[in-house]
Amino acid sequence: MCGIVGYVGQKQALEVVVAGLRRLEYRGYDSAGVAVIADGALEVRKKAGKLANLESLIGTDPLPQSTTGIGHTRWATHGGPTDSNAHPHVSEDSSIAVIHNGIIENFAELREELTAAGVTLSSETDTEVAAHLLAATMPAAGGNLTDAMRMVCQRLEGAFTLVAIDKAQPDLVVAARRNSPLVVGLGEGENFVASDVSAFVDHTRNALELGQDQIVTITPSGVDVITFEGGPAEVTPFTVDWDAAAAEKGGFDLFMLKEIAEQPKAVADSLRGRFDADNRLQLDEMRLSDVDLRGITKVVVVACGTAFHAGMVAKYAVEHWTRIPVEVELASEFRYRDPIVGPDSLVIAISQSGETMDTLMALRHAKAQGARTLAICNTVGSTIPRECDAVLYTYAGPEIAVASTKAFLTQIVAAYLVGLYLAQVREQMSAADISDVMEDLKGMPQKVDLVLDTVEPVRAIARTFANSTSVLFIGRHVGYPVALEGALKLKELAYMHAEGFAAGELKHGPIALIEDGVPVVVILPSPSDRLHDKMISAIQEVRARGAVIIAIAEEGDEKILNFSDHVIRVPVTPSLMQPLVSTVPLQVFACEMATAKGHDVDQPRNLAKSVTVE
Ligand code: G6P
Repeated sequence: MCGIVGYVGQKQALEVVVAGLRRLEYRGYDSAGVAVIADGALEVRKKAGKLANLESLIGTDPLPQSTTGIGHTRWATHGGPTDSNAHPHVSEDSSIAVIHNGIIENFAELREELTAAGVTLSSETDTEVAAHLLAATMPAAGGNLTDAMRMVCQRLEGAFTLVAIDKAQPDLVVAARRNSPLVVGLGEGENFVASDVSAFVDHTRNALELGQDQIVTITPSGVDVITFEGGPAEVTPFTVDWDAAAAEKGGFDLFMLKEIAEQPKAVADSLRGRFDADNRLQLDEMRLSDVDLRGITKVVVVACGTAFHAGMVAKYAVEHWTRIPVEVELASEFRYRDPIVGPDSLVIAISQSGETMDTLMALRHAKAQGARTLAICNTVGSTIPRECDAVLYTYAGPEIAVASTKAFLTQIVAAYLVGLYLAQVREQMSAADISDVMEDLKGMPQKVDLVLDTVEPVRAIARTFANSTSVLFIGRHVGYPVALEGALKLKELAYMHAEGFAAGELKHGPIALIEDGVPVVVILPSPSDRLHDKMISAIQEVRARGAVIIAIAEEGDEKILNFSDHVIRVPVTPSLMQPLVSTVPLQVFACEMATAKGHDVDQPRNLAKSVTVE
């Protein structure tokens, strides 16, 4: 949700910043803008729409050469996606330019104060107040941008990453962080700040994680971090463990297609090295004792979007293996309903980005109630894992397409590992049983590969239904969250009405939606599963009312041929593992449908990948 990048060094800042924005565009693409310092003046270009619009503006109205610059790609919150609301925002005297990710909650008061002081604001954004406040504070800060930033941050409420440059200090970029992401890239004779490492991984893989309420000042030769109070700050250096190629399309037309294809590797990588010398499962960071884990009486998963669906899948497995009740809660609802959690609860936050504000706030609420916390996350050094007692990383590599694919599969795998870990510590499952499940999991990359090899007919089926007004998805048990995820993918990408239902619920209402020709995607369990016949009954109910059935069914399920119009095959798989294969054709289905409709698959309208506002 908004991508920000700042650079100081020897290279052309504009090139570095625009290349960084290209990598960050997944975070928002309502407008883009850059500012550089040249010959003692600020130069700004900004434009509504995608980064390409900004690039063509710079083509017709070039920027001067400069080695210091900042850039922003926006997901609009305060003020529509217009040129004037695009960042950077500049102080009235054109001395300071600011970019921002987050929401300044007390911006209305600050706007009034500025207006009363005679400042004319030229946008509807909350960000602009920061530019004017910084300029107004500079005299009191003795002309020191870092000090001015510190003083201004103390007046701001909400969540923000702010990055500023001052025309009078051309070799310096200052950034501040509260509850929004910010990482520092450490180069040789150059340094970077950005929303995430993908913006600078072409230049350096050495990075610093910042904590909350910290300010970083970068120059070509140094990086200095202080707290909002001006004291020394603790930072954590880390090395990015993937290279720039991982953030490229690698020969695929779309990031989404590449990420779908990467799923076997993502699952395999997320399973690697999970046993220690004593053959005990291990997590990446563990600050919970076995005693703590034995005392857990309930597990609560908090997550949003696709990650929430991964949590729903995990509930079936974790309850089955551990006999601990598992609640799965939309993170945005969690803290507002006064949830019952305490020291005997384990709250698991699932988040690909590790920055989703709804999830972060749910997690903080759980911590405040004394709950034990564990993160399942794909982004090393992001806020959610930093604030949890334990962390299990998913090793999916960077996920760029806004609609999540490989992260979903790895989140399920990671949540299953947590379930097995709990079962191990609490001696709920024997070592042999755990090892059997691990063998099943280890067999999944190959099965996902098989699905990918045979997925071509799904594209033709998707095109057949491209003009449908609505698509329904039904499933039971773990097939139910898969149905929800299939519908979410279609909404996100094809902008179509799509809904997922627990198949048993159809008759209690949703069946009224069925009329002639409505496509219904059915996620079937194995023919040996006791729910298979129940699913066939559900199919008959909707077929009798005119539905067209697209069945996701196991190889060898002959019975389904009599009850469906199209069959998409997935390999024979133990029930709890089935979401790892049955989701894949649904991803391809949505991707193809969106392509057929001419939509931008990687950057669907109105969405952003990392939603850092509540
Ligand atoms: C956004 C994205 C979704 C994603 C959700 C949670 O809404 O558009 O695709 O599932 O955030 O993201 P997270 O990074 O917390 O997994």
